[in-house]
Amino acid sequence: MSRISQASLRLIYDSRGRPTVEARIVTELGGVATAGAPSGESTGATEVQAFPSGGVPEALQYFERYLRPRLLTLSVDDQGAVDRLLHEVDGTPNFSRIGGNTATAVSVAAAIARAMESRTALWQTLLRPGLDGGSYPAIVGNCLNGGRHAIGGPEIQEYHAIAEAPKPADAVRAALEVHHLLGKRLKTKFPNYALGRGDEGGWVAPLGNVEALELLADACTEVRDRLHSPVYPGLDLAASEFYRDGRYAYREHSLDRDGQVAFVAGLVDKYGLRYVEDPIQEGDYDGFAALTKAVGHRTLVIGDDLYTTQESRVAEGVRRHASNAVLIKVNQVGTLTDTLATVDLARRSGWKTITSHRSGETPDAWLTHLAIAFGSAGLKCGLLGGERVAKLNELLRLATPPGN
Ligand code: PGA
Ligand code: ZN
Repeated sequence: MSRISQASLRLIYDSRGRPTVEARIVTELGGVATAGAPSGESTGATEVQAFPSGGVPEALQYFERYLRPRLLTLSVDDQGAVDRLLHEVDGTPNFSRIGGNTATAVSVAAAIARAMESRTALWQTLLRPGLDGGSYPAIVGNCLNGGRHAIGGPEIQEYHAIAEAPKPADAVRAALEVHHLLGKRLKTKFPNYALGRGDEGGWVAPLGNVEALELLADACTEVRDRLHSPVYPGLDLAASEFYRDGRYAYREHSLDRDGQVAFVAGLVDKYGLRYVEDPIQEGDYDGFAALTKAVGHRTLVIGDDLYTTQESRVAEGVRRHASNAVLIKVNQVGTLTDTLATVDLARRSGWKTITSHRSGETPDAWLTHLAIAFGSAGLKCGLLGGERVAKLNELLRLATPPGN
């Protein structure tokens, strides 16, 4: 038993320069750990509330008054007890009192402290029987941004290079080369235009939705052939963000649900998409199921805003055959224990998991360990920007131990 001897929470800034929280946990046996919590922008309606209504200052006050004294009675050996305490002190169904980001930072910091004490990597301390952990994920690398993560650009939020090489070094390289090549192509296409990058480090350019996908798919093909490395296009449509009055409102056209299912299925077929996240708005399990029926045997259909990492929502998705994969974000649900329950259900149901960053990130690299421990098919962490590269570099470190 190693008791928590110090616990604190501080304000830090995320990659958008917005306040978030970082927890620090020290144990009697010398574990010293910090963990910062990221923040979303295109958040799902059913995810937990990141901060209390008074924002980070109120989260810090709650922590001091109610959480800290009780954390000092616990040991990091028992992750379940730490996570139960977070729920108990909060007392709401959605962490609206202490904030889901406080819960996330404390829960992850406790796990890191436990790993430090036992001198094992975080991913090893998180391994659970049956999760198939320990394998390396494919890279889901954001190359081009639109939607709420960009000023200008397409309605579709994210255009990804899905790099599936078994060796992380090969996968990371292939995904980055697609990003670089796409940049070159964009500079040629818009010689007099000031190209930008979005919140997750992908390019931003005045492109139509399909036009952008064409450029991405071409870049993937060229890199795949040049490196002989499997890298394919993928999308996160974040469809709830442009769903208005019962229709999917693209600038090129407006579609009803059947039109949207046919449109996305067409993109999967034409461009060989390997990954389609949130193709349908977050309230529509049946629309998801229609698309999964059409293309689920040849691509991952992934729910993010649909499930918000909630076990009960994934259970409903499994019952309705809504998708074949789920995106995993700890701060959508607030604790590692809740996250593990969702990952476990997904695995038992034959679904893939993709462990994901948020658009507002910290430079922490614990996400990479979670992806490995969960046996996730993909690590979605972006490609450019220090807060994204930190996760990729951690993957390279873990895949190539010192001395090699
Ligand atoms: P968010 O978006 O982090 O802004 O919620 C990321 C995503 O939709 O996957
Ligand atoms: Zn998403």
